[in-house]
Amino acid sequence: MSTKQDEAKKVAGRRVIQEFVRDGMKLGLGSGTTSHFFVRELGKYVADGMRLTCTTTSRSTIDVAREVGIAITDPNEIGEIDLTIDGPDEIDRNFHMIKGGGACLLWEKIIAHASKEMVTICDETKIVNALGAFPLPVEVVQFAWKQTERMVDRVLKEHGIQAEIYRRMRDGQPVVTDSGNFILDCKCGVIENPVSLEIELNRIPGVVENGLFTRESVGMVVGCFDGTSQVHM
Ligand code: 5RP
Repeated sequence: MSTKQDEAKKVAGRRVIQEFVRDGMKLGLGSGTTSHFFVRELGKYVADGMRLTCTTTSRSTIDVAREVGIAITDPNEIGEIDLTIDGPDEIDRNFHMIKGGGACLLWEKIIAHASKEMVTICDETKIVNALGAFPLPVEVVQFAWKQTERMVDRVLKEHGIQAEIYRRMRDGQPVVTDSGNFILDCKCGVIENPVSLEIELNRIPGVVENGLFTRESVGMVVGCFDGTSQVHM
């Protein structure tokens, strides 16, 4: 059964297409349930003849896109992307985000940076005053991951954050990302300075990428529980 939150996510997906997607564009398709609703909606436009060249930020989004008849271009072949549309786990009013709840943060950040613009789509529950209630995902290489975990903890402490850190597990097994890495989820509380934390975490050798996205999004399209939507740029 579709929840009110699902409906709000769909509203955001419909609105972002109306406002931002144009015939002939090269698009980056995000990951997570909100993005998948958007991709399913986009499939209707493609079936009606809209010409798009699309690449994705996860294997799961490739599957959804193909299911609805959207051909996927290899990210190495697409060149500069016009627009990437993706969802957050949390977003503040400066469009700073935590992403990676679905373990796709590395591909998501690569595709966002390969794009002229990124626009975020979300339901209203994702908007926060300060980032950090959602555990911050940090993607780390498998080799010596406990050493990397200690260094992540040190950097968080330098930012005044006493975090609880745990390796993400599913069905008793460590989660392995599309790129073969582990995810450390860091329960931070409030992140006072996400811009600096994003940079400092990425300076640790075993860290591949972290889920703070502070430079990517130029705006957000919000789906509300009352069926309306808002565009913030
Ligand atoms: C995956 C992500 C997702 O975009 C994020 O978790 C939002 O997911 P959802 O739309 O299901 O709430 O960052 O790595």
